[in-house]
Order: sequence, then structure tokens, then C-alpha cells
Amino acid sequence: MTLTNQKAVKAVILAAGKGTRMKSDKSKVLHEIFNKPLLGYVLDATEKSGIIDFSYVIVGHQAESVSEFCKKEYPRTTATRLQMPQLGTGHAISFVCEDLKDFDGEVVILCGDTPLIKAETLQEFINKHRENNSSLTVMSAIFDNPTNYGRIVRDANGLKAIVEEKDATPEQKQIKEINAGIYCVNWQEISPAFGELKNNNAQGEYYITDMVKWAVEKGLKTDSFILKNNNEIFGINSKTHLAEATKILNTETIQKHLDNGVQIVDPQTTWISPETEIGTDTLILPNVYITGKNKIGNNCKIGPFAHIRGNVEIDDYVKIGNFVELKKATIKSNTNVCHLSYVGDSEIGSGCNIGAGTITANYNPITKIKSKTIIKDGANTGSNSVIVAPVVMGENSNLAAGSVLTKNLDSNALGLTRAALRVIQNWVKNK
Ligand code: UD1
Ligand code: CA
Repeated sequence: MTLTNQKAVKAVILAAGKGTRMKSDKSKVLHEIFNKPLLGYVLDATEKSGIIDFSYVIVGHQAESVSEFCKKEYPRTTATRLQMPQLGTGHAISFVCEDLKDFDGEVVILCGDTPLIKAETLQEFINKHRENNSSLTVMSAIFDNPTNYGRIVRDANGLKAIVEEKDATPEQKQIKEINAGIYCVNWQEISPAFGELKNNNAQGEYYITDMVKWAVEKGLKTDSFILKNNNEIFGINSKTHLAEATKILNTETIQKHLDNGVQIVDPQTTWISPETEIGTDTLILPNVYITGKNKIGNNCKIGPFAHIRGNVEIDDYVKIGNFVELKKATIKSNTNVCHLSYVGDSEIGSGCNIGAGTITANYNPITKIKSKTIIKDGANTGSNSVIVAPVVMGENSNLAAGSVLTKNLDSNALGLTRAALRVIQNWVKNK
């Protein structure tokens, strides 16, 4: 999509609230979907929009862990600002007023607990705001059951106000257009509102939503952008919501893969993270769980009951069978890891056969160091073998069943550590 104006936009992500209903010691926005915190999804959407170049994250409850996450995962594109105590969404936004006092552009305000918002939607939203020459655009949605959301109040001239459920009249409660909690504002025009908000409402909070009435009174142009897919503003307030959002995201992801020519036998029991790429004619069998960022080639067979944990790259014609766990591994074409194996921090070449029950022992619990296993093209491991990393198996080398490999194997060599077999004839009869 082309944007009507390329000037960068800033985002403010509200994430200071407590999230009592999560019943957790952890910050709500650090709860994870496919191993990624909710806040990470929102930050990814802002980054992927291609037009938002920096996000201020408002932190409060569990501020330290949320700040640490931002610093570690988004060091160049985020800064956190502490809101203490939390007196409402309108109070939260005031913590960037100093940072942005000279910023002459648009600011998009989002919530850290709505992880399903898409980058493309943010692009369309900003585009519409610009095309309309609005000072303030509110993202809205039409809900059959609008309970608990702020309602969008209109008159003949357009948007007039947002009224919270707890402050709404019985007539206003009938309104089905709700406030999604995402706004685009021309900062210099709208930000003076944040110094003038009052908390004389049912919750005794400063509501960011009151900026709409403020803008209307000032004669500024306000508008709403009605969301096409309501799932995108699905907000997480409980662990039930977390499970529901995961399912929504998974259903979308699976549909995308089916449309792209991946065969998925049972969408109900297959879990695939949104950052996993899968080639055509790959077959995914039931009860496969894939998290993190991965790339799976064409014509592979994955599962049933396989667990792929991220940073995994699999070439074409690879078989990953039942009860196989993969993490941070590359596997070249025509290699089989068919049963009961763990492959982590490893590079496996093409045409290898990884026997049932092969374990790459990558972690030393005493030094806490993780080491790498390299298995070159054509090498094979026998059943129930342990590869103690760091170690390299040369091309076409073999590791005998039941062996423990603790040093490198040259190409074409056999590694064998098991005790010689003793056979005692008639042992059973003589007992
Ligand atoms: C808000 C909107 C409501 C909208 C809904 C959409 C207000 C007054 N109401 O209601 O119109 O329909 O979102 O989901 O804004 N937060 C802070 N600091 C605070 C308070 C909240 O950072 O002092 C953060 C929360 O962590 C959360 C977000 O702001 O991420 C929204 O707050 P929340 O209390 O969930 O607002 P709602 O009552 O859902
Ligand atoms: Ca609230």
C-alpha cells in the first residue's frame, strides 16, 4: 500500500494498567502467545506498518519487567515512560507530552493488551486520517454486544464524543459502534487537551476518550475509522481471553498456509506461530506445535506430535516425525528425524538419517553453556545415541546405536562406544 505522506508517525502504547483479571504476578502485556509477549505483537504491528518509527510505552504495574523487555527486544525503536500511580488512560498519555512537545506530526495511540491489530490496518487508519485532513481519528468497530466498551456518539455533523459504559445513558448503551481504543491525532492540535481533562466521571479516572469532546468544542475535525475485522481489537483481560486470542491467531495462520498449498490434516490440533513460513506440499500431521520464527521447505512431512520451538530452518523433503523436538537448528534436504529425538543448537546436512531416540546434548547444566552440534551431509546416527556438543560428525560418518559421542568423527568413520555384546548360551535354561 502506498501512503499519502511519508512523514514518520510516533506511537504511544498504553501498558501501565494492572490486569487484575489475569490473576498473575506477571504484567498483563508480558503474557505470551506463541512465546511472544502481547506487547511484542503490538510493537511488531507498529514497526511493520512502515510509517511508525518510534513507540513510547507507558509502563506502571511491573514496570521493570516491561521496560526490560522493551530494552532487550526493541532497543532502537522504543522508550518507556513510567506512570505512577495510574489515574486513567488520559493521565497515561500525559507522560509523553514533554518528549513530544516539539513534535509536529501524528501520534497513534494503542493499548498493549490488543495483540491482534495488523500493520496493514494501521496503515489504512493513518491513510484515512491524512486523506480526510482530520485532527483526530478514532478506530471504532460495530459490535452486536457492545457491553463494557466506550460508545461512539454521533450527530448529524459526525463524531461528537465517546461515552464510557459506566457513564452512558440507557439510550447511549444501545449504540453498537464502540471505541476500539486506538487513535490517530495531530499532536500539536490535540495534545493541549491532555492538560485539561477532568476526572469527574463514574470511575474517577482521567479518560483519554474525553479528547474527542474537547476537539469537537474547539472546532477541530474528528472522524472514526470503522474496523473491518473485529478480531483485530480483541483485548486480553483474562487467561480465557489469552486462549481465545491464541486460537484466533492460529486459525488465521492455518488458513493462510492452507491457501498457500500446505496440507494440514487437522487444523483443530495443529498450532503454528504466525512467524513460521511453510512451503507448498508440506504435510503437517495432527498435534504439531510450532512456536517462534521458523522456515520449513516444500514437500516436508512434519508430525504427528512434533514440537518446533523457534529458529528452525528446514529444507525441502525433510521428515520430522513423532515426539521430535527441534530448537535453533538447520536441517538440509532429504534428511529424516523420524522418531523420539531432540535436536537443538544443531546444523544437520542433507541426506542424513537421525535414528530414533538421538539426542543432541547441547546444554551443560554446570557451566550453563549451550554448545553446537554439526552433522555433515550423509552422516547417520543410530538409535538411542547421544551427541555431546560441541562436536562435529564428518560427511558420511556413522554413530553406532547406543553410543555417546564426545569427540569429532572424521568423514566415513564409525563412532562406537557401547560395550561388546556377551552372549551366554542356555542362560535361561540354566537359571
Ligand atoms: C478503554 C476506553 C474505552 C474503549 C476500550 C477499548 C478509556 C477511558 N476507555 O476502556 O472507551 O472502548 O478501552 O478496549 O480510555 N492504562 C494505562 N494507565 C492507566 C489506565 C489504563 O496505561 O492509568 C492502559 C491499560 O494498561 C490498557 C489501556 O490503557 O492497556 C486501556 O485501559 P483499560 O482500563 O483497559 O481501558 P478500558 O476500561 O478497557
Ligand atoms: Ca478501565
